[in-house]
Amino acid sequence: MSFEPRILGFLCNWCSYAGADLAGVSRIQYPPNMRVIRVMCSGRVDPQFIFEALQQGLDGVYVMGCHIGDCHYLEGNHEAIKKFNMVIKFLSIVNLENRVRLDWVSASEGVRFSELVSEFIQDIKNIGPSPLRRDCPDKRLMEKLKAIERAAASDRIRALVGRERKITEQENVYGEKVSQEIYDELLNTAIHDEYIRSRILILLEKEPKSVKDIAAEIEIDPNKVLENILVLKGRAQVDMSEIVDITPIYVRT
Ligand code: FES
Repeated sequence: MSFEPRILGFLCNWCSYAGADLAGVSRIQYPPNMRVIRVMCSGRVDPQFIFEALQQGLDGVYVMGCHIGDCHYLEGNHEAIKKFNMVIKFLSIVNLENRVRLDWVSASEGVRFSELVSEFIQDIKNIGPSPLRRDCPDKRLMEKLKAIERAAASDRIRALVGRERKITEQENVYGEKVSQEIYDELLNTAIHDEYIRSRILILLEKEPKSVKDIAAEIEIDPNKVLENILVLKGRAQVDMSEIVDITPIYVRT
């Protein structure tokens, strides 16, 4: 059954927004499903904005900026790519990665703007409504997305993404450079770990639990849960509250 998607667009002031404006004044037709938020640069779009929009039940999120080399702030769109890649990796965990897109549109590309938006809307129509639409949101998925939002905002992920170009393009004090391949591995591991840790924290915020109960709820190996509980204990985010029979019960500190 066809539906009318609700799309949120973050458009950079200097190129894409002007491109959208040109499409408007040139009376180029495109579906009216996208609401626009103007930002000064695509690099300004914090991943939290995207996760929040999806939690609000929007069917898709489009980020648009200036073409590479044309950013008004020189490298904002390079930063946007790094952040967006991280967002895609996180959203792949819950199969929502096809609901977000990043593209470049210049101020003179009214036709390109309308074509890209029409294409995205059609793709979202083909995928179907968001499972997080307000009338009947999938509660388990919502919980996973909240964990993703929290994990993406962690110091470890922010530091890795914020320093990606420095890490992969410049030599360290020992004259070594980290290859893109190794960096990607590091980021994938960090994303996986921080996601699991966020899920554990969210569960423990509701009530104290044993490792076995946590493992059953988030459907992972209890050894993996214990490993992450120890890390969270080290960060002073989790503590043992009591021992019931011979089972330790953990609590959010
Ligand atoms: S100003 Fe447009 S992407 Fe940076």
